[in-house]
Amino acid sequence: MKIFAYGCRPYDEMSCFEKYSSLFGLDVKCTKQSVSEDNIYLAEGSEYVSVLTNPITDTMLDSFKSIGVKMIGTRTVGYDHIDCKYAKSIGIKISNSSYSPDAVAEFTLMLSLMSLRNMKRIIQRSSINDFTLKGLRGCNLSERKIGVIGTGTIGKRYIELLKGFGCEIYAYDPSPEEIEGVIYLPLKDLFSTCDLFSLHAPLRSGTRHMINSSSLALMPEGSVIINTARGGLIDSNALIDALNEGKIAACALDVIEDEFDLYYYNRKADVINNKPLAILRDMPNVIISPHIAFYTSKSVDDMVRNCIQAFINDEAGGENPFRIV
Ligand code: NAI
Repeated sequence: MKIFAYGCRPYDEMSCFEKYSSLFGLDVKCTKQSVSEDNIYLAEGSEYVSVLTNPITDTMLDSFKSIGVKMIGTRTVGYDHIDCKYAKSIGIKISNSSYSPDAVAEFTLMLSLMSLRNMKRIIQRSSINDFTLKGLRGCNLSERKIGVIGTGTIGKRYIELLKGFGCEIYAYDPSPEEIEGVIYLPLKDLFSTCDLFSLHAPLRSGTRHMINSSSLALMPEGSVIINTARGGLIDSNALIDALNEGKIAACALDVIEDEFDLYYYNRKADVINNKPLAILRDMPNVIISPHIAFYTSKSVDDMVRNCIQAFINDEAGGENPFRIV
């Protein structure tokens, strides 16, 4: 079985690919280059292609098909960067990967606490020897009503972690489950009931901009928003307006709209064409991190292993829990 992996980071993923190719006796070739229309040819001769979050256009899918690729596996949980419907229509299978939800859930909890305790302002001030208190008074997490949007793998783990803090926990999910200590509400009621919102839903046409001027208007004054899911869930311009008005007191964004050609690259010498990012990053009550919630040693190992496992399952022809289409 021949696998070609794009965007393979030499400083962490490469050793995982080496470990698992030797463990499973596979022929795996890797490149540091992110997948693009210009380097599809590198995968020639491989039936299985592994990618990260760079968009895979329909033209690229056609090109992969023409060189005999059977399956494209993304080493991520989210797969909104691949047009799965089109892939299916031309006979290319798509798989994703999975890893322990702890990394993202713990990071989300950290951002929740940092936002409530004004941690960005505290770090900024103390780094220039400003040790004043004014403007730094925080809120206890235990006093907050948390609204968890999406109670899948990560949302549920975040809820478990929250339970230790004694806060009220509410949730919205189109497929609700029985979770002890959690009250499900219709989305509009969740927006008007809670005052800290954490997003854990996938990005789909129905969830794009689910946080918009109308939903922000429903939230109590001084609410906090944490997004470690996908940038497209939030209308960034509406969020900026709500922050300017004080409606939203703080937010933390591990993901942002149009991040794909920024995150994980060194763009410090470039003019960046992302106005919302520039405005949000400048605000003392907005924490920006570069889509890094997942990034622990355990997660990286799991992502590579499970991407390879999806290919092995496909080759074996049995159950494949990682297959999307
Ligand atoms: P999951 O598939 O286990 O759970 C998603 C949940 O969202 C499901 O329960 C689903 O029913 C629910 N959902 C679907 N439509 C919804 C809607 N309209 N409103 C509310 N809930 C809705 O996914 P998982 O693994 O928990 O991932 C959650 C999010 O985190 C995804 O957006 C994923 O892309 C993102 N993610 C971000 C990472 C990071 O490093 N920042 C790393 C891994 C995942």
